[in-house]
Amino acid sequence: MSENILVAVAWPYANAEIHVGNLTGSHLPGDIVARYHRLKGNKTLMITGTDSHGTPVTMSADKLGKPVEEVYKFYHEGFIELFQKIGISYDLYTTTHSENHFKVAQNMFLALQKNGFLFTKVEPQWFSPGLNRFLPDRYIEGTCYICGSDGARSDQCDVCGNVLDPAKLVNPKSKIEGDRSSPELRETEHFYIDLSKLEPDVKKYLQDRASYMRDTVLGESLRKIEAEGLKPRAITRDLDWGIPVPVQGWEGKCLYVWFEAVIGYLSAPIEWAQISGNKDAWREWWTNPAAKQFHFIGKDNIFFHTSLWPAELMGVGSAFMELFAGEEIPLIVPYDVPANQFMNLEGKKISGSRNWAVWVRDALTRFDPDAIRYYLTANMPEAKDSDWDWAEFVARNNNELVATWGNLANRVLSFSYKHWEGRAPNVDASALREADLELLKTIENGFNVVGAELEAVRLRSALSEALKLATAVNQYLDAQSPWSAVKTDKESAAKTIYTALKAVNSLKVIFAPFLPFTCEKLHKFLGYESTLFGEQYTETVKDALGEHLVLRYRPPARNENQWKAAELEPGQKLNQPAPLFRKLDPSVVEEERARLGAQS
Ligand code: MF3
Ligand code: ZN
Repeated sequence: MSENILVAVAWPYANAEIHVGNLTGSHLPGDIVARYHRLKGNKTLMITGTDSHGTPVTMSADKLGKPVEEVYKFYHEGFIELFQKIGISYDLYTTTHSENHFKVAQNMFLALQKNGFLFTKVEPQWFSPGLNRFLPDRYIEGTCYICGSDGARSDQCDVCGNVLDPAKLVNPKSKIEGDRSSPELRETEHFYIDLSKLEPDVKKYLQDRASYMRDTVLGESLRKIEAEGLKPRAITRDLDWGIPVPVQGWEGKCLYVWFEAVIGYLSAPIEWAQISGNKDAWREWWTNPAAKQFHFIGKDNIFFHTSLWPAELMGVGSAFMELFAGEEIPLIVPYDVPANQFMNLEGKKISGSRNWAVWVRDALTRFDPDAIRYYLTANMPEAKDSDWDWAEFVARNNNELVATWGNLANRVLSFSYKHWEGRAPNVDASALREADLELLKTIENGFNVVGAELEAVRLRSALSEALKLATAVNQYLDAQSPWSAVKTDKESAAKTIYTALKAVNSLKVIFAPFLPFTCEKLHKFLGYESTLFGEQYTETVKDALGEHLVLRYRPPARNENQWKAAELEPGQKLNQPAPLFRKLDPSVVEEERARLGAQS
């Protein structure tokens, strides 16, 4: 039976380019899982967008001296270009700066208020007399009153690790004004979400998932709640860039970025449904209790996805739908949060500001998307931090991707094309031998083996199982040796090549979630006119806030389950094959290492 799967990926901040760590942390695992479910014929919706509000974005605009709207759009459009080039197939990639998202976020806020989970409180906050506005904690630096070190953020000291009371910071300075103006404390009122009231629900929500959630996610979340409890959190800020608080008298204040960005997981499907012309279609992933929602995020985002977001959803209950659509329907809660750990680079933490990073758009000018996807999946930081190492990148590309899989496909196709007049050998399928049938059985079973790993979001293991299947075909070919048999016993060679082609035709599907570009090519070489996947394209959406570019995905015409052994007609016409991958020269290693840390 077909399932409904929502693939929800963390919304990247519009303040920095995307590097390989970001890609392997969330977008790529999300894409692999989405493509797998699409191949299975499941109703799959993959969404996210640019996190366009919040101090990370305004600070970067302040530093550049540019309007924040311009800065957010610059990154947003760059992200969309990148996702197209590396094949991250969002059904909708949008932005939090849209009329739809504003409306959905404001309704979530009002629903929480209606259900009694919000309260207000007056507190002192830093204010800049020079700029005549409040400054977020991140804008203020000073001397730590606990350990005495300089450069402490007003809410946290990175040197001694203590959470600070902003009011006690010594010699506070605003990061954007420096010595030009001294910030002062002024009273301001904010809304809080009372997470303590929702703590029992959040705990139960997590415990219900104990049989399958990663321990790095579940264990950590429960331990944190056990140790610190869930405390009320301020969900509004004195900012003018963001979503206005939908309460009279609160003009000039906005919703806290984390409070509203997570709501994007709900607003993006709603926007997708609207622009797809079936405005209720989003409900298939949001009000259907059988739907499964997966959250692909990095480890720094765990709290917000295992505590804040489920708390918001459980807090609104059916009140959101009541306000939004006039019907009392509860929203469902996420099924799993397979968060990844971090990827380092050549043994050191990735750092954008020191240019210690492999920037994906830059890497794509020198390497093929599937080569990058392969290494990032084989090395995905699922259980612990991993490391991008250029020597390993070259070695795995050459020894695994090219030698084990690419050469196999190319060898078998070219041989068949050459010796059987551009066709698959025309054999009597019922005359296949023991060894042929055994190989085909192994491949058929491979769909279950790799499928089980993909279902459980163990993507490294899924890819390594797929590679084992390619190795099995190579071993079969070594044993049968059709390259020489073609001269002495062409009928036997025909059976071998037909069997190997059939195996490759299936492996094309098994590898497709990981390597969509080359599997699509291979699908063509094997003689098909259809495509495995749909197409990505962009579109401009106009609304009351102006307009924003979105990335979309158009599914292929047919949509039945393809996750099973693929048939291959004996004598099927093939297309002229070409190598799927490029072998990399070892000199790449030193060239790429020399780029690291260099200032451009
Ligand atoms: N923008 C945040 C980051 O890059 C992630 C936001 S995820 C969301 O760390 F769920 F809040 F949207
Ligand atoms: Zn300190």
